[in-house]
Amino acid sequence: MYNRKKFFNKIILSLKKICCIGAGYVGGPTMAVIADNCPEMKVTLVDLNVERINNWNDEDLKKLPVYEPGLKELIKKNRNKNLFFTTNIKDSVSEADIIFISVNTPTKTKGLGAGYASDLKWVESSARTVAEYASGHTIIVEKSTVPVRTAELIKRILSSCINDSEKHATRTFSVLSSPEFLAEGTAIKDLENPDRVLIGGEDENAIKQLSSLYQRWIPENKIFITNLWSSELSKLTANAFLAQRISSINAISSLCEPTGADISEVSKAIGADSRIGEKFLNAGPGFGGSCFQKDVLNMIYLCRYYGLAEVADYWEQVILLNEWQKKRISKLIVETFFGTVSSKKLTLLGFSFKPNTNDTRESPAITIAKELLENGADLCIHDPQVSESQISKMLHLDNSNKTKKSIEGGSWIYSNNLELAFRDADAIIILTEWEEYFNINWQMMSLLMRRPSWIFDTRDVVDEAKLKDIGFRVWKLGNGRI
Ligand code: NAD
Ligand code: UGA
Repeated sequence: MYNRKKFFNKIILSLKKICCIGAGYVGGPTMAVIADNCPEMKVTLVDLNVERINNWNDEDLKKLPVYEPGLKELIKKNRNKNLFFTTNIKDSVSEADIIFISVNTPTKTKGLGAGYASDLKWVESSARTVAEYASGHTIIVEKSTVPVRTAELIKRILSSCINDSEKHATRTFSVLSSPEFLAEGTAIKDLENPDRVLIGGEDENAIKQLSSLYQRWIPENKIFITNLWSSELSKLTANAFLAQRISSINAISSLCEPTGADISEVSKAIGADSRIGEKFLNAGPGFGGSCFQKDVLNMIYLCRYYGLAEVADYWEQVILLNEWQKKRISKLIVETFFGTVSSKKLTLLGFSFKPNTNDTRESPAITIAKELLENGADLCIHDPQVSESQISKMLHLDNSNKTKKSIEGGSWIYSNNLELAFRDADAIIILTEWEEYFNINWQMMSLLMRRPSWIFDTRDVVDEAKLKDIGFRVWKLGNGRI
């Protein structure tokens, strides 16, 4: 019988040049960690987006397009030594021994499967670029999250033009799947010390090469080799399970409120059961981020495609519950003010979908802000990392005046100063658990606000007993004791 262990012991790493197509939230941090761990290899990130590449190359590290703890240090150390950012796709692809495809795979907005299926046009165009410019033997790695059997599409594109000209006559390709499991805000830590790494594929030599690359810093027992389709499906399944867990705890948070239970106590109690585990049991305003929703929608699409209607309906509830959670929070805020928040200053603390990232994609803050604006509120939005223009883009609002009138009716201003954000506010709504919100001097801030002063805490940041002593009215998500 074939002995995989013995075979892997003889690994000689022959990769010298790495290319990554897509310099985004995954490509950037992933390649920075590879470059740092493999100083003798040349790692090049390519992207169509000129502004993004310019920002990756900017002397001022505050302008890096991705904010992640530890990232700027890695960029400072390795950039222009063995880590490069460029828009020159042709040369980077042509010289590479291995190419990671790390492009966006959002939900389709038009055509067949719109609203559910993943739009693979960027993966497809990357495969076509590889087909056009690659030379010699090239390993192609799917890093993007893709529907099961996408590797087949990539292989078909590559094989259809493998030898279509004299200069292409000697080319060969191997396609592997190696999905990324990093979470934003902890990307560098997750990449340096992952729970596991997957490599799905058929070509033993290519698997061996990628495995030996990872083994430069990841222990061999954390590298799982699977078939291509298991690898692709495991990524979707992991995200679906994580999203389902959040919808489950959020569903229970709503049951805590009318029954007098406290969701933090319930989470602790169930999390102590080692079969359930304590992680990912924090109730909140709903999951955000670019992936959970799109990956669950994609799972639903695949189930329907394969005729599994009941399975699709099961996963769809995860999304419906998430939407409901966001909307029930804005509704509850409006109802607290007897149905009218018009001309009330409501301060939102946090706009990113989680702390330690500047990413706002699918942030629950977007839905909640829009609903409050629709009700005529005057919002003041504070976030330590998200810029004013980014918020404006997300809310699709007019950015031309200092005070922005929204199409919905209310208005909003941005503030990166907590004191200004609190001044004359009727309510503070905590939507992201940034560290600095845990250190607010509420006693001092209470003097700046209008009375009655409300706190709506969706992230278990404040101590409600202390705040009530100061004179605040407090609502905490999932706390029925209030
Ligand atoms: P992103 O939008 O931040 O980055 C993708 C980049 O690819 C963009 O800069 C875009 O300009 C570039 N691009 C698209 N087509 C290109 C082409 N043909 N040639 C060159 N560049 C091209 O996306 P992201 O958040 O980095 O996610 C990338 C993939 O990784 C997605 O499939 C996502 O589901 C998956 N993923 C994301 C995360 C995360 O935390 N963001 C984690 C794990 C997996
Ligand atoms: C998630 C997964 O955790 C990663 O493993 C995966 O690689 C990534 O998606 C992806 O494929 O894009 P990410 O979205 O960056 O990572 O961040 P998470 O920490 O998973 O948080 C997602 C959302 O769930 C956030 O809005 C967060 O506030 C919310 N959340 C998370 C909760 O409401 N409660 C929790 O207990 C945990």
